[in-house]
Amino acid sequence: MHKVLESLKKRRSIRAFKPDPVPRETLRELMDAARWAPSWGNTQPWELVVMGGQTVKQLTADFVEAVAQKVPPNPDIPMPGTFPEQAQNRYLTVAKELFQLLGIAREDKTARQEHMLNMTRAFAAPHIIYVTFQRDFSIPYAMLDMGAMVHGLCLAAYALDLGTCIEAQLALYPDLIRKYLEIPATQKIVVGIALGYPDEKAKINEFRSSREPLDKLVRWVDC
Ligand SMILES: Cc1cc2nc3c(=O)[nH]c(=O)nc-3n(C[C@H](O)[C@H](O)[C@H](O)COP(=O)(O)O)c2cc1C
Repeated sequence: MHKVLESLKKRRSIRAFKPDPVPRETLRELMDAARWAPSWGNTQPWELVVMGGQTVKQLTADFVEAVAQKVPPNPDIPMPGTFPEQAQNRYLTVAKELFQLLGIAREDKTARQEHMLNMTRAFAAPHIIYVTFQRDFSIPYAMLDMGAMVHGLCLAAYALDLGTCIEAQLALYPDLIRKYLEIPATQKIVVGIALGYPDEKAKINEFRSSREPLDKLVRWVDC
């Protein structure tokens, strides 16, 4: 199988990382590959911040504090409220299957809360990549461009033996992010991507989300 096809099928979200930082060279190689993503009229709306070290630890500790204090999130990109029914089922299924794998029961609120806090800490990844764009861009197409770039970045990370987890959770408190990263208010923060070397021994990294069967999603017309 061609390597691109293989990477598309084998990449998965990584939710436990080794503490080792990724060398600057490798980070550069990753970001250098990601910038070749397609975009509307080659406008390349993305602006990225790669963070590591103590800054990641301090920022995620602030996130955990905000969650503990029940500070209302105010993400630059609003969270989806509802989904169409089938998608809502997929959303519930992925959480159910992940908790099943981890042996966390439905009623075990403490373990579920701990998972949520772990997510808030970027799963202890040594790096977070913040994805932003200038607010003057027209949102629907800029977001399409962001998606293309983010997926490419995740595939490039996979090719470099790195793990990623795209996390809306890491974008819930833009004011805290701006405190550390000097991202101006004129930039919208889209998502944070947890990045590092996968902890291969962690149970959570065995998780594989499912996909709808091909023929449920694709109609074939005249071909
Ligand atoms: C925009 C976006 C936001 C996401 N936010 C989170 C998040 O906050 N926490 C998390 O654990 N996973 C998050 N994910 C990862 C999805 O849950 C994951 O991509 C999906 O379940 C498919 O699994 P896979 O990535 O392993 O193929 C996010 C993915 C996307 C594209």
